[in-house]
Amino acid sequence: MTEINLLDLYPRSKRPIEDRGRLVTDEDRRIARRFGREYFDGDRLTGYGGYSYHPRFWRETVRRFRDHYVLADDARVLDVGCAKGYMLHDFKELMPRLGVAGADVSPYAIEHAIETVKPFLRVADAKELPFEDASFDLVISINTIHNLAIEDCRKALREIQRLTRKHAFITVDAWRTEEERRRLLKWNLTALTFMHVDDWKRVFGEVGYSGDYYWFIAE
Ligand SMILES: C[S@@+](CC[C@H](N)C(=O)[O-])C[C@H]1O[C@@H](n2cnc3c(N)ncnc32)[C@H](O)[C@@H]1O
Repeated sequence: MTEINLLDLYPRSKRPIEDRGRLVTDEDRRIARRFGREYFDGDRLTGYGGYSYHPRFWRETVRRFRDHYVLADDARVLDVGCAKGYMLHDFKELMPRLGVAGADVSPYAIEHAIETVKPFLRVADAKELPFEDASFDLVISINTIHNLAIEDCRKALREIQRLTRKHAFITVDAWRTEEERRRLLKWNLTALTFMHVDDWKRVFGEVGYSGDYYWFIAE
């Protein structure tokens, strides 16, 4: 279990945290949590405001994953919360022989997935994933399992642990300081479980998660 930022090459964007804190309503959050069109391709107040492919997002990061975990050309990689499959697409561009799979709770995202990997994606909940034990060399889950309430979030961590035969890497909403907590509460649209980093580490230990992890900090 290592705390490591493998998303350090992911492009950083300036987040209008104060605006969102002021403008977003409970109704916007309710709509966002449906993870439908409004979340991915609707207004910024209910989600991404347009979730489209661009290689600058994942291209360097998948290279980072490959090098860090020394992935074999024909390794198997699962993305839990894969959305439209963009990260897996970039993995396949880099490593055409890789076996990829993606799971996401959103039928909208899977339906509108990028065609290159669409056949490898399925609608599924992170708390109960439809794959065999130890069937992946690397399971990745970026900013996804915090969308489950704590007991289901624990199940999702156990599922990731069950499915990997080698490596796992997750990121979750967290804070280290009171100021980061305040900003996260303003920024959060969909997460049900967010904690101080030390509390997350305790939960990882309690459920037997032995993969790597890092934080989404509202900066
Ligand atoms: C912040 S987005 C991250 C998407 C992608 N991993 C990325 O980094 O671009 C969160 C994703 O988690 C998915 N999600 C939410 N709850 C989920 C659940 N219970 N099981 C699986 N996926 C879930 C959403 O549909 C959405 O695609």
